[in-house]
Amino acid sequence: VIYLDHHAATPVAPAVRRAIDDTHDNAWGNPASVHAAGRAARARVESARRALAGAIGAQPADLIFTAGGTESCNLAVLGLLASDAPGPVHIVTSELEHPAILQAIAALGPRARVTRLSCAGAQPPSAGALAEALHEGADLVALQWVNHETGSIAPAAEYARLCRERAVPLVVDACQALGKLPLEVGALGVTALVLASAKIGGPTGAAALWLERGRTISPISFGGAQERGRRAGTPDTAALVGFGAAALAIPARLALVERMAGLRARLEQACLQLGAVINASEGPRVATVVNASFRDWRGAELVAALDVEGLCASSGAACSSGLGAPSPVLLALYPDQPWRAQAALRLSLGPETSEAEVEQAIAILTRVLRRAA
Ligand SMILES: Cc1ncc(COP(=O)(O)O)c(C=O)c1O
Repeated sequence: VIYLDHHAATPVAPAVRRAIDDTHDNAWGNPASVHAAGRAARARVESARRALAGAIGAQPADLIFTAGGTESCNLAVLGLLASDAPGPVHIVTSELEHPAILQAIAALGPRARVTRLSCAGAQPPSAGALAEALHEGADLVALQWVNHETGSIAPAAEYARLCRERAVPLVVDACQALGKLPLEVGALGVTALVLASAKIGGPTGAAALWLERGRTISPISFGGAQERGRRAGTPDTAALVGFGAAALAIPARLALVERMAGLRARLEQACLQLGAVINASEGPRVATVVNASFRDWRGAELVAALDVEGLCASSGAACSSGLGAPSPVLLALYPDQPWRAQAALRLSLGPETSEAEVEQAIAILTRVLRRAA
């Protein structure tokens, strides 16, 4: 099988798997237990926290471990707002966000007035658009850094500077930025940063929320006092250990991003030759993804046909791909060409992807498209 869906989940690296297996063998206790088995598990959770903190220049105590990017996004949005007095709130966001952010905002119901920044020119929202929206004040800004579907890179540091000047909390969803862009959380200047294991060679079901020191956040699940009272429940120790092991390999991952740019260029050229249009902004973008629309296809059907031939791809965010609905991200980027959203194919690369695999993927795509012609 050729796997070109690294924006959904990445293969678990061998060192990560060894760390996970060893945790299941030797540190399976409840990390909240005070006895030796609990202490062994707790030591591993804390070591994973230090590893992740080291990878982003953070203090370990400022990281809250969760069970996924979605939970971290939910916690950031709902937890930061809940710590203020209840009442109407104004939230600034964009249509490019992952459902984990948009649905958390939707869960606030009529309490929330939402400003969605424009993606004019098929670009992520500009700092100017954010500055304008902030004129009337806001209680929270939630914007992503790297888009999961097109790989566009938003000006996250500029967002942070503007929000800081106006003392508005800023949540940045960095699930697709970690491991693809250099990331120093102190230099970035955000209030909260969402990080996920499955995008960097770690297992699914492990993630973190980095939170600025001194900022209060209300939990969104209720129970024990784990994670300093900010996230109740016994964690999946092995998954977090895997996240920590994957975080140690981030520098090696970053070193391979340039090589992926060559593979991406080859894939894009092949898609163009096969009659596709490329969905990508003019501005900066990460080298790990090709998003192409094939006019006569529905993306979900193309993905199914490629799957039969042994190529794993997607038509958008993995969590929505079973629904077959057009991509809301592409609808927002190309409002005058809704067919692009219906017909999108996302091929995403990882450091393991070889030239031979890319050539095989192109051969499969060519075969499937020609057969249907
Ligand atoms: C940008 C972004 N945010 C949030 C998530 C949700 O993460 P998870 O699937 O770990 O819940 C994803 C996952 O694809 C993502 O790409």
